[in-house]
Amino acid sequence: MDGTFNENDLSRVVEADRAHIWHHLIQHKPFETNDPRIIVEGKGMRVWDQKGKEHLDAVSGGVWTVNVGYGRESICKAVYDQLMKLCYFANSAGSIPGALFAEKLIEKMPGMSRVYYTNSGSEANEKAFKMVRQIAHKKYGGKKTKILYRDRDYHGSTLAAMSAGGQDERNAQYGPFAPNFVRVPHCMEYRKHELDGAPEENFGEWAADQIEAVILREGPDTVGALCLEPVTAGGGVIEAPEGYWQRVQEICKKYDILLHIDEVVCGVGRTGTWFGYQQYGVKPDFVTMAKGVASGYAAIACMVTTEEVFDMFKDDAADPMNYFRDISTFGGCTAGPAAAIENMRIIEDENLLGNCAAMGDRMMGNLQALMDKHKVIGDVRGKGLFLGAELIADRASKEPVDEKLAQAVVADCMAQGVIIGVTNRSVPGRNNTLCFSPALIATADDIDQITDAVDGALGRVFG
Ligand SMILES: Cc1ncc(COP(=O)(O)O)c(C=O)c1O
Repeated sequence: MDGTFNENDLSRVVEADRAHIWHHLIQHKPFETNDPRIIVEGKGMRVWDQKGKEHLDAVSGGVWTVNVGYGRESICKAVYDQLMKLCYFANSAGSIPGALFAEKLIEKMPGMSRVYYTNSGSEANEKAFKMVRQIAHKKYGGKKTKILYRDRDYHGSTLAAMSAGGQDERNAQYGPFAPNFVRVPHCMEYRKHELDGAPEENFGEWAADQIEAVILREGPDTVGALCLEPVTAGGGVIEAPEGYWQRVQEICKKYDILLHIDEVVCGVGRTGTWFGYQQYGVKPDFVTMAKGVASGYAAIACMVTTEEVFDMFKDDAADPMNYFRDISTFGGCTAGPAAAIENMRIIEDENLLGNCAAMGDRMMGNLQALMDKHKVIGDVRGKGLFLGAELIADRASKEPVDEKLAQAVVADCMAQGVIIGVTNRSVPGRNNTLCFSPALIATADDIDQITDAVDGALGRVFG
């Protein structure tokens, strides 16, 4: 913002919002007495609200999205130029930015080869689920239709995506869900004591073996796919322990199960590599992505798969049903891939993967120092600029803090002009992890300002 802002200008906007907007994720009763927050402008790492107050955004637009920061003229220009040339045509035909972004994306994903464009992360995941079901009917006599998902993971807000939802508070009021989605246990080392029989040593392998146990219980000939987040996001910022991914890969191979990695949060740089799965040497069959693909400058999501999967949908041209009988109307918008091409160029030219890894290390170090100072932090974890700090009432029992206190830390940071996040109405009794995901352009000063704010907030809320 340029300092000429007049807060009265926006009183009409605030009233229109209060009267007509149904906001995402929050309760509305408080708006009867408090104003809703309107974010007016953004530049780099910072946003300004309707009162002209500046905030350092440590959550990239609230939900891990604006990876290259706000106010990128070159992305806006690429979108403008593309929209003037061609705004839309259904993806039964190709487009210039669609083809060029797919080519660029596949260069970053060795082993993958086909890109299916959609509107949202939820929808991208549903496309993969539908493909798994179609493969089951086509190749396995309708048997391999089950899709495994993990406790604490999230794959979207639509009903089939929620059927694969491992967060019971999110799901609580929306059942019944689609059949043949089956849950496997979480792999969170910090809370392994809550899992029956979890060993002290080799927990990663053991946690993966629990997936095999579910497959054997369900019958391997009924299980088509396993869907996992590379680092669980809203379920508590959970990185799988050593040994987990290798075992997961072996299990999928052994039982002919397709591996679907949901990169909606991690994809396009968030962990310091292009994709989260690349940190762990995983070879997926499906990769879905959304938020950071164009950093929120235009809506775009992708379902990416291998040539092997693609071939299963085109092997018999004589059969009129032998194709993926699906469409996503806005998957044909050209603004998304136009923005995504420029987004990727920026990440490469400004070495934002390197910056993400370096600033992620700095932030992790700062959070570890805070853990030494504040005994309410029980664990800090994550990868790159995708980090979490779990707040507990007692280090021995790991009893979570009252979630109102975790929210009070977020509110205190907000009052200081720093926006952080917290796991929210997701896993019952476990909404106690502070979430940090600054844009990949963050500087050392930004990182220190964020952790200083958290330091102050923890001191005030917990003493
Ligand atoms: C891991 C993961 N998958 C899928 C989704 C759903 O994406 P969208 O909100 O774009 O549908 C989200 C959204 O937060 C997510 O975190």
